Amino acid sequence: MAYSDTVMDHFENPRNVGKIEDADGIGEVGNARCGDIMKMYLKIDNDVVTDVKFNTFGCGAAIATSSMATELIKGKTIEEVLTLTNKAVVEALDGLPPVKIHCSVLAEEAVKSALVDYYKRSGRQMPKALQDFKIDEDAHDS
Ligand code: FES
Repeated sequence: MAYSDTVMDHFENPRNVGKIEDADGIGEVGNARCGDIMKMYLKIDNDVVTDVKFNTFGCGAAIATSSMATELIKGKTIEEVLTLTNKAVVEALDGLPPVKIHCSVLAEEAVKSALVDYYKRSGRQMPKALQDFKIDEDAHDS
């Protein structure tokens, strides 16, 4: 399966690349098998993601999925961001080859781990959806 034009666009012109110095939440996840690493920075104001940046040291699909994930969560409320799934990211990219689905899992996990970090730093009560969040090691084997 070839990559969609949307994947190629986000790979060649990734959105929101970089770092937020005074981020409210930072998430870093990695895939032990391929060695790729994704870092996500969130700025949160009044329960809204006002800014997001990412740095991904990894494959093209990992770059494209992190870029799309940032586009999908920017300006959204935390509640909305919590409903983000890797499937939604893949759909927004017009699909990914099956062997690359795990790259999109990394993007969902990076966003969620940045939110977990935000709640830890702010001392606020973590929503149930995040209390149950744990990195899905199985997804990393595909
Ligand atoms: Fe590692 Fe894509 S091959 S995240």
